Amino acid sequence: AHVVKHTFRVGNLTVRKLCQERTVVAVNGRLPGPTIKVHQGDTLIIQVINRSPYDISIHWHGIFQMLSGWADGPNYVTQCPIRPGGRYTYKFDVVGQEGTLWWHAHASSLRATVHGTLIILPRRGSSTYPFPKPHKEVPILLGEWWNANIADVERESLTTGGAPNISDAFTINGRPGDLYPCSIKDTYNLKVAAGKIYLLRIINAALNHHLFFKVAGHHLTVVATDASYTMPYPTDVVVVAPGQTVDALLVADARPGRYYMAARAYASAPGVPFDNTTTTGVLRYESSSSFSSPPVMPALPAFGDTPTAHRFYSNLTALLLRGAPTVPLAVDEKMFITIGFGVYSCDKKNKAACAGPFGERLACSMNNVSFQLPTTQSLLQAHHSQAPGVYTEDFPERPPVAFDYTSYNVSLNLGLLQTARATRLKRLRYNSTVQVVLQNTALLGAESHPIHLHGFNFFVLAMGFGNYDPAAAERRFNLVHPQVRNTIAVPAGGWAVLRFVANNPGAWIMHCHMDSHMVMGLGMAFIVENGPTPETSLPPPPHDLPRC
Ligand code: C2O
Repeated sequence: AHVVKHTFRVGNLTVRKLCQERTVVAVNGRLPGPTIKVHQGDTLIIQVINRSPYDISIHWHGIFQMLSGWADGPNYVTQCPIRPGGRYTYKFDVVGQEGTLWWHAHASSLRATVHGTLIILPRRGSSTYPFPKPHKEVPILLGEWWNANIADVERESLTTGGAPNISDAFTINGRPGDLYPCSIKDTYNLKVAAGKIYLLRIINAALNHHLFFKVAGHHLTVVATDASYTMPYPTDVVVVAPGQTVDALLVADARPGRYYMAARAYASAPGVPFDNTTTTGVLRYESSSSFSSPPVMPALPAFGDTPTAHRFYSNLTALLLRGAPTVPLAVDEKMFITIGFGVYSCDKKNKAACAGPFGERLACSMNNVSFQLPTTQSLLQAHHSQAPGVYTEDFPERPPVAFDYTSYNVSLNLGLLQTARATRLKRLRYNSTVQVVLQNTALLGAESHPIHLHGFNFFVLAMGFGNYDPAAAERRFNLVHPQVRNTIAVPAGGWAVLRFVANNPGAWIMHCHMDSHMVMGLGMAFIVENGPTPETSLPPPPHDLPRC
């Protein structure tokens, strides 16, 4: 296979943004970090050298890591962190997927600035896109920027059990755009030629916000999500949840001039104040001067416009390509998982820690288990060496009690909200088909959670609002061409049904991609057993795997 190599030097970088100087952690002195481009079938080798003062690890978001689970990257899941001064070489093959993914730090909130685009082109040789060849391909990496030190922000939200502090700007390719103070020069610019086609590779790298994205005067055609081709879907607005990607074609067919591309919040974590700021970039036709009349601004949907978001999400279907996996009809494991907020008994002597609902600490959970990462070794190491005491394999297949999940009701029995911190995993047979119903709860407020599964793509069979009703939902299952994702925005006050085949041995975390929720316990992990042969089993760890 063709080998693509990179070296990532992670270290401090001082930049001026929003009228202030600040030092952040970045890769190779760039914000966003380097763009990785590979063809399907290539091998990627990335040496990561940690010159930052923090423990880090890098995750290749959405990459299957087939039989290369040691390279997946989440801290304490597949590896221990790369300590300051340490290094680790990630090595894996890129197979079975094409389109846009990204990479990011998977250790505390460092991913705010340690992230970049990962593009998977069609196989080397003759293969092409299943859509008209674009004249140019453009990463549109949407992010957030804090004037404060993001590590402090996270520490504060963890100790108080409260919501994270609001970011100071959204960004396009690291730039806030000219609507923010001192940012006229810090605006992303895209020059286009009339009549040409552009492929926008849109990524939501924000920590805690779902985003709307639009380009004034232009329609977009979605052709892929999460590196999986979709039926071409024409739309004027794109919705991206944290972790998700959208590939969309833009035809430069408007009257030559200047147009804003813009993104703003669709939804954020409860308790986070409504953020009405908008990041902008400027799309300019070659033939028009940069000093012509001000760019045209698109009308973005309002914060909380769920009907628009739901229309976008539910209109997406997969493009049926020859050889693509089809939905398995027989299910081996059925899980029903509630996701949302609850409380965790706090130490009453520590007032700040008990500032959550009912004088307890706010926590997140799946089936009332608030996920706790181990600290002595990674889940995958423990699994591989059969070390006892690191985790248990009793993750509950359903919540402790059935109730009305979607009504906001603070007078409820506190028992429904009570979570316990634990590292409880679910063990899966090699090649078993798993169906997961994710039921959002609303006990402490309803919110859309972007749930991300490592190691696999899943079929999204259906989504809906209210309490999940199996009979009604199953009638609506799309078993023919459901969209394929690695991250699903489970509707606020609703549910989603996923199905995947556990064909990749290893330890795989499934978690909310809202950074603040992940650290509060909104996750769980699967152990997928080895297959029957050496070719279907996880090889031993690489010699340089960081240990604890
Ligand atoms: Cu993009 Cu576990 O994350």
